[in-house]
Amino acid sequence: MTTEPSRTPERQAFYDSIAPANLAPLWEQLHDLVTPVPAPRALPAVWRYRDVRPFLMRSGGLISAQEATRRVLMLMNPGLGGQASITGSLFAGLQLIMPGEVAPAHRHTQSALRFVIEGHGAYTAVDGERTLMAPGDFVITPSWTWHDHGNDSAAPMVWLDGLDIQIVNLLNASFAEGYSEDIQPVARPEGDSLARYGGNLLPVDWQPSGKTSPVFNYPYARTRESLAALARNGPPEVYHGYKLRYVNPATGEFAMPTIATFVQLLPAGFASQPYRSTDGTVFVCVEGSGETRVGDVTLAWEPHDIFVVPSWAAHTHHTAAESVLFSFSDRAMQEKLGLWREARGNA
Ligand SMILES: [Fe+2]
Repeated sequence: MTTEPSRTPERQAFYDSIAPANLAPLWEQLHDLVTPVPAPRALPAVWRYRDVRPFLMRSGGLISAQEATRRVLMLMNPGLGGQASITGSLFAGLQLIMPGEVAPAHRHTQSALRFVIEGHGAYTAVDGERTLMAPGDFVITPSWTWHDHGNDSAAPMVWLDGLDIQIVNLLNASFAEGYSEDIQPVARPEGDSLARYGGNLLPVDWQPSGKTSPVFNYPYARTRESLAALARNGPPEVYHGYKLRYVNPATGEFAMPTIATFVQLLPAGFASQPYRSTDGTVFVCVEGSGETRVGDVTLAWEPHDIFVVPSWAAHTHHTAAESVLFSFSDRAMQEKLGLWREARGNA
């Protein structure tokens, strides 16, 4: 691409004369609008849970889940100037529910994922079914489904929320409404969805009614078992270690229509080869410890830490101990639009 043409007094006078007519010269902005490679404003960043947790617990004494609707501290990417986003397209936040609290039922067109960080036994209810959550569980609330959260356990419960808020707002397709009561009625027993759709079986004659996986809790115990088996059965892939993607069993596609989710195991002492892709990615350390190098920036992580690698930023992972990373990005949407790209190695 060429650089922008010089701005002569004559040209400037012309630009000034057309501005009141809601016109502007493309040639002044072309290089910013159509970049030769992705130019994200988002920066690589890490949120250390040991630093964030005290703030989160203080918020627990400041406002109730009921009053807040959702008591969430948003993870604000330092490159995005106060925009409620962790990447250009995705929202991330840490949600706290104290013992005995309820986050009242509502629904919205934004899709949400929950990745459980701390606590056992709080529930998320989606369309009449409750699932009890444990650390490492990946839980989905699909677009426009009623959902509420409650904590009947004796300890605080914390999870990471990931939503496609910026995507839905870009398209001006946001709808939201509250349910008539705080807690929606329970219509099916716990585990019903997993039994129906999550056992490599599907009910005969069943047809998907939406674009999101009918499995709404992918329990960590199962995920971890798969990772352990892969690690026993062969060498790690050089860019990703042992990496799996969560799928919609009805289609084989990503579990959510806009957001792709992954989990990977990296052996102790592993150093991955440089890798980049067009989907800015949010990682959560589930187990182990290590660091991720993004250009000149080193992001050190241990369990419950959250870090972000922007679009097209080459990065490598380095582990001190055997580690498990959960991650999510907008790759599901980019693939549908034919936009997703990756580059392996230093090319
Ligand atoms: Fe919600």
